[in-house]
Formats: sequence, C-alpha cells, structure tokens
Amino acid sequence: MTQEVATDRIVIVGAGLGALYAALDLAPRPVLVISPEPLGLGASSAWAQGGVAAALAASDSPEAHAQDTERAGAGTVDADVARMVTDHAREHILDLTDLGTPFDRDADGGYVMSREAAHSAARVVRVKGDQAGRQIMETLTRAVRDTPAVQVLEGVLATGLEVEDGLVTGLWIERASDEPSAPVLIRASAVLLAGGGSGGLFAHTTNPPRIRGQVIGLAARAGAMIADPEFVQFHPTAIDSGEDPAPLATEALRGEGAILVNAKGERFMTEVHPDAELAPRDIVARAIFAQTQAGLRPALDTRAALGSEVLNRFPAVAEACERGGIDPVTQPIPVAVAAHYHMGGIDTDASGRASLGNLWVCGEASSTGLHGANRLASNGLLEALVFARTCARDIADQIGPAPATAPEVSVTFEDDGTSLDEDVVAELRRTMTAHVGVLRNAEGLKTGLRTIARLEDMAGANESFRNMCATATLIAAAALKRTESRGAHCRTDFPDPDPAQAHRTRITLADALAIRDDVVRETP
Ligand code: SIN
Repeated sequence: MTQEVATDRIVIVGAGLGALYAALDLAPRPVLVISPEPLGLGASSAWAQGGVAAALAASDSPEAHAQDTERAGAGTVDADVARMVTDHAREHILDLTDLGTPFDRDADGGYVMSREAAHSAARVVRVKGDQAGRQIMETLTRAVRDTPAVQVLEGVLATGLEVEDGLVTGLWIERASDEPSAPVLIRASAVLLAGGGSGGLFAHTTNPPRIRGQVIGLAARAGAMIADPEFVQFHPTAIDSGEDPAPLATEALRGEGAILVNAKGERFMTEVHPDAELAPRDIVARAIFAQTQAGLRPALDTRAALGSEVLNRFPAVAEACERGGIDPVTQPIPVAVAAHYHMGGIDTDASGRASLGNLWVCGEASSTGLHGANRLASNGLLEALVFARTCARDIADQIGPAPATAPEVSVTFEDDGTSLDEDVVAELRRTMTAHVGVLRNAEGLKTGLRTIARLEDMAGANESFRNMCATATLIAAAALKRTESRGAHCRTDFPDPDPAQAHRTRITLADALAIRDDVVRETP
C-alpha cells in the first residue's frame, strides 16, 4: 500500500543555492527541503568556480550587464527577464555578504571584480579565486542549520509529481541510496523545484554525478511545459585528466591572461575570434573541440599570466591538477569540452511559476528566458539567487498565511522497487556525448533518439532513469527540430542561424515523444 504523508510545509526539491536561499527567504514559514545528499558540498552550486555576475563598479551598469547577456544569448534572451535579473544583482551580493560570504575585497573594502568571457566589464564577484560556489554554499548551509523552520530530509530523492486537474498536489520521493525503496507521496500545497540541471546526462561533464536531468524529467513527465531544452552549454576548459566528472579550469584564468595552445605550441584562438580566449563560451568550446578532434591536444597555459600564483589564487584548479599529475606552474593544463550548464529547463514565468498550478522552479532546472542560446559566464548563480527569492515571495503570496507551526515530516521507506542500472546510465551518457553533443546533425540526433528509446525500454520501472530519459529525449528531439545553428546549438547540416527560428522553444514531453516515435518508425 502506498505510504502518504500530508504536510503544511512548503516542499523544496534540491539542496543547492536556489533551494537553500529560497528556504531562508520563506522562513519562518515552515519548509521541507528534499536533499539527495547530506547538505553542503554535493550540490552543483558548490562546484561553481566562477562567481556571481553583478554590475557593482561605478563605471558599470545593470543595463550594460543585460546587454551583454542578450548578446551572448544569440537572439533568444527575454530582454525583460535580463533587465529584472541584472537590476537585482547588487541587492543579492549585499545580502550574501550580510549572511557571511567572504567575497574578495580590495584594500579599500570594495568588491574585487573579475573579468570573464563576453562581459564588456570586469563584473564577477568571487571568493578566493575559484571558491565562490563552495563558500556561498557553506554560508547558506550554516544559515539553514540555524533556522528551525527549515526541515531537511537528507538521503531522499524526488522522483515524481502528483497532479490533479492541472494542479500539483504532492511529490513522490524515494530513498536516494542504491537500495531501492517503495515510493512515498508527500502531499503539500506548494512545491518549488530547485534541483539542478542536466550536465551529467553527458559522458563528459563538469556536473556532480547526481545531476542528470532528473528534476526537469519528473516535471516533464507530470505534463509541465519545457523551454529551450536543445540549448546545453559546453565548458571549453574542463581539465582533461581522465576524471569523471571533469574538474574545471575556471574561465577566470583566461580573464587573468591565460592562453589556449595546442600540441604544436600554436595559440589557435587568435585566428578564430577577435576576442581570442575571451570570445563567447560556445565559440571557444567549438574551437577546443576541433583541436581535440584533430588530435592536437589543446591546453590552457597559465604560466606567463600567473606563474606560481596559480597555486594559491586558484586552489581548486591547483588541487585538480595535482590529482591529475599536472604541474600548472611548469606545463600547460590539458583541456577538453564538457557539458556544463543547461540553458533549457522547466518553463517559468517572471514569478518563477511553471505551467502546472502550485509548482514553482528556480535555478538550473528552470528556463526563465535569461540565458537564451548561450549563458553568459557567472549569470547562473545570479539567476538562481534572483529567482529563488522571487519564487519564495510569490509562494508566500499565493499560499496565504503560514501556519504557526508544522510538525516535522517523518518518512520510513520500505524496501521495494528497481535499482538504477549504472551500465545503462553509462550508455545513455555516452550516447548523449556522441550524438547530442557539441556538434550535431540529423543522422546523429536520430541515432541518439533511437538509443534513448531502447535504453528506456530496457531499464524497466526505475523512476529516476525514466526521468533522465525524458530529459534526454527532450534535448535530442528539440535539437532535431531546430534546423539551424544558434549559440550552443550547432548543427553541422544547418551551420547558419535562421532569422525565422530566432525564438525560444516550448515543448512538452508528449511532443518530444511523438518526434522520437517517428524517428524509431523510420528505417535507419
Ligand atoms: C567558470 O568559472 O569558468 C564557470 C563559470 C560559469 O559557468 O558561470
């Protein structure tokens, strides 16, 4: 028999920056956070080496930041959203500072602003070079632990939404560990999805192992509208040392003057774009990919720009190099592209509301229209902050007065269900990298869709895998439908942008499955 628990708490799925920031904003209203891992460093936000983009310098402005966001987004950014997000950036940096985030400061106490690709100004606030995500997450985790209104259920995975007449009425959860469990239904009046993106659906990724498109998939399976799923950002400089996930060599290194060279010692980016290493991320990623494909082993050379300072100014990069047996002080760091950020996600309006009632979304699981076809560096954490608060305030308005207290939710999982088959997951990830990756064409995308369909059939009833397959299907089907190249979506069979397609994609899982079914019926 299904176990069902009702709560007056607002239910938040995920434990990254958006989830915790929203929980703190909702408090003292009682909140239940569903976290697959112990709170802290397992969330992708904690892995973010870049900082938060915010136009804080006197010579800069939110308007200029919004313009750069639109330019990088390659024609499909929602200008109102860009303006709203960039306008609010300052307030969130100040609030994170008040909570205790130790942003880098200059001798006068001002924020140190770093330069990243495609920004027209130095406008990224950081913590100790590459520690922003980690330090912000430590700050928020501490604050949540000190907030009695926030209950955190750790080791628990969200696998589905309960929907009645277009309204979300509950969330299905399971044990997150390898031992499968029977699902439990948490009945609640509002659910906020803040559970990350899809990078881990690809074999080469910078995302933590848990982030494999499950949250987008569970919303899509419940009928939520999905936006822009074909737009996946590949980071150009993941460290190529054989680790999975691949550690990042932050873009800030290029902002500090590090250059990209190949095995012949050639600095290839000067031939590709006038901004060379600081060209938009999609352009640098394709150049790196081409060098890798040609067997020219691209590498990031920090020696002239940073010398031995790379070790103390970029501790995460130094640590990853050490693990991989690379000495960045004396040798260039081998790099390769890796899936990094999903611009697409669950379609939301300016309040963070999804197309289903009682459902809100923030952070990488959402698609707000900010990023268009190519996210501007360090706009990811900023968007998560702005929309976490927007969602929290809208939920409070919609749901009405908070109960004075709400009992803690207690769940006991019964052993049952089907475990996740890691070999099948590995095949799905290889398929995504091979056929739905940096360069795409109709033939490869169709092969990808056929493989996803076959793997989904093989994997049986594991809900988490079904959620991954739903997101993989949405990405591949939307990529097949978009017969042009734009931003991070590059079709070798349609290499140019098509002005008639300069609009966002809106697609349901039913639409994507219809495209997949047609492909499966075709003779390959
Ligand atoms: C980086 O530090 O290169 C990543 C920053 C980002 O993805 O915004």
